[in-house]
Order: sequence, then C-alpha cells, then structure tokens
Amino acid sequence: MDLYEYQARDLFEKYEVPVLAGIIADTPEEARAAAEKLGGVVVVKAQVKTGGRGKAGGVKVAKNADEAYEAAKAILGLDIKGHVVQRVMVAAGARIDKEYYFSVLLDRANRSYLSLCSVEGGMEIEELAVERPEALARVDVDPLTGIDKAKAVAIAEAAGFAPELVDKVSDVFVKLYSVYKNEDATLVEVNPLVLTEEGEIIALDGKVSLDENADFRHPGHALLEDKAAADPLEAKAKENDLNYVKLDGEVGVIGNGAGLVMSTLDVVAYAGERHGGVKPANFLDIGGGASAEVMAAGLDVILGDPQVKSVFVNVFGGITACDAVARGIVGALAELGAAASKPLVVRLDGNKVEEGRAILSEANHPLVTLAATMDEGADKAAALANA
Ligand SMILES: Nc1ncnc2c1ncn2[C@@H]1O[C@H](COP(=O)(O)OP(=O)(O)O)[C@@H](O)[C@H]1O
Ligand SMILES: [Mg+2]
Repeated sequence: MDLYEYQARDLFEKYEVPVLAGIIADTPEEARAAAEKLGGVVVVKAQVKTGGRGKAGGVKVAKNADEAYEAAKAILGLDIKGHVVQRVMVAAGARIDKEYYFSVLLDRANRSYLSLCSVEGGMEIEELAVERPEALARVDVDPLTGIDKAKAVAIAEAAGFAPELVDKVSDVFVKLYSVYKNEDATLVEVNPLVLTEEGEIIALDGKVSLDENADFRHPGHALLEDKAAADPLEAKAKENDLNYVKLDGEVGVIGNGAGLVMSTLDVVAYAGERHGGVKPANFLDIGGGASAEVMAAGLDVILGDPQVKSVFVNVFGGITACDAVARGIVGALAELGAAASKPLVVRLDGNKVEEGRAILSEANHPLVTLAATMDEGADKAAALANA
C-alpha cells in the first residue's frame, strides 16, 4: 500500500525525521485557514499517489493566505497522470539551498535491501538513473544489520556529500531506515531531502510503500487505507476475503488456488487470440472453500465489472469437492437472480467431478455452459466474450 505524502510526513515525524509543518485541506477555504495558521510563505501541494506533481502544476508557492486559497483552487480537481486531486497539503515553505535524494527499498532481485542516494535530488530518480547513473550511489544494505550510523555514513560518502554534511545527513538516514524497518515498508523515498539556507537537513517530500503482508503486525495501518479511492469491486472482494485483481480484458476468471487461476489467465489469453483478441478481465481466486456464499460473492464482484462479457469458472475439486462447487454455482445464480446476466462457462475436474457435472446439467441454467477441459472452457468463454 502506497501512502500519500501527508501520511508519509506524519510517519516521518513520529520517527523524528526532520519535516516541516503541514496541514491537509479539502477546500480552498480550508487551505486559506491552514496558511493563516502556519503563517509566512507556504507551499500548497496536491496529494495524489504519483510523482512529478511539481512539473504537473500540483505544487505551488503561496506568499500569504489569499494566495494559498488561489493555489488550492487551481490544484483541487486537477488531473495528474490520471489521479484527480481531492486534497492538498499546505506545508510551511522551506528556503532551499540544495536538493538531495535518498531511498531505501526492498531489492527483490537480490533478496536484500538497497539504498539509493544522490546529491543531485529534485528531478525524477528514473531520469537521473538513465542520464547520470554515476551521480546515483547504490549501496547494498544487509537486512540483518540495516542502516546503522556507520552504514549511513558510508551511504553519504558514496553519494559524495561534503564532509561537513556527512554527520548531519547520516543521522537522518538512520531515522529513515527505522521508519522502513519498524513499519515494514518496502520503500521509503525522500526526494528532495534538502539543505536549507539555515543549514538544516529536511525531508520535503516523502514516498512510503507499506508491505500489506505485515498488516497483522500493524493494526494502525488499516487507518491509512484510502477507502474512497479504492476500486469498489476490489473493496467488495476484500470484504469477502477474495483475492481479486482487476485486469483490462473481457473474460472474467474465477478459479480456486492462485496457480490454477494464473494458468487460466494464460489459457484464456491464448484462446482469445482466435476470438478477436479478447483477454482476461480479472484474476479472482476463491481459495479453498467454494461454497455458495463464496461463489456468489465472487460472481457478484466479477459481474459488477461492466467490461466483463463472459465468465470462465475453472475449479479443481480437492478438499472442496466438485459437487459442493456445483451446488455453490447453482445457489449463487439463484441468489443473484437478474444480477447474473452474462454467460458462464464452467469446467470442473477432480474430486467428485461426475456428481458436480450432474448437478449443473440438471439445473440446466440458461447462462451456464459446461466444458470438459480447461482449453475447451477457455475457448468457449473467449468466443462468448467476442460474440
Ligand atoms: N515545503 C516546501 N518548501 C519549498 N519548496 C518545496 C516544498 N515542497 C516542495 N517544494 C519544491 O517543489 C518541488 C516538487 O515538490 P515534491 O514534493 O518533490 O513533489 P513531486 O516530487 O511530486 O514533484 C521540490 O523539489 C521542491 O523544490
Ligand atoms: Mg518529490
């Protein structure tokens, strides 16, 4: 889960990373009040989960409260790379002398942590990495020892910080690492980390991604979730403990077990090539128990996606046998009634497959087609989506 800048700022503050005062505002009036409260020069910043806000006109300096009002008015509602701004942060203005870059992240390829650091901050790091790779220090971080003071000094030196700054910035790196470690983050990035004209080191922008697999250790993280911005179908799936990922094709896919669902996606995409290039519309794993309720919840989510033209249910009966799954499908269709309006291709195999097929044949639901194999099912579902 990615955090908004203001959430990252609050987290930084908790770990004593130097940040400036910031107040969130959802209307220009609130932005004016926030600027009055902060006093002096402020910066009005779009709160969207994407970078490059500055370039897109989402970061504006305001010399007084009236200017903050105007800035917020211009920024709220702005579309930044597909993210519409609903909220701004009014932050105290810094007098910037220099801009630096620092991040620590999970390095999946090396099964380790990695710190990136540069004395040329401010610009997008992807650009810097391409245009001036020599200006970006890459320092491996051992997860067992992390970034202690000595490691932080090594990072600062590798990045080429002036000797008189090394002590000060390395203290901040240690604190940023404690955010990363203690909050179970997969990324903590500060761009820019600045040196002010007063000689202070301050984190002016923050990007934090938290590892959702560690949510059980952090009950507080649930509060950081942005329920309003989440996809309503994804939210519905989550409520029902279903693993659902929206894709952009036309064939809805339901399976049990991530491995089976992933191969189903491949088979559907392959079959789609023969049927007008249709593709999978989603990934939905109903997991072990394919009861009527679980199946109804799964179908409800998938049928709620207007892009879905057909659904392929591909289940391998194991502990949950095919007869239970078949009853689940029949029950789900009865429960959904008119809401179930798209053709369903069902392929069952494994434990009690004959009983399962018999139940579906008997029910003889007009929307349901049975398929004997996975390939046949994918082909039928793709053809129906293309019809
Ligand atoms: N509080 C602030 N005071 C002064 N300048 C700021 C402040 N916040 C941001 N800036 C300036 O705006 C630029 C872009 O802001 P930033 O928060 O990094 O957004 P983004 O990375 O999305 O463009 C920064 O590089 C910095 O020069
Ligand atoms: Mg930035």
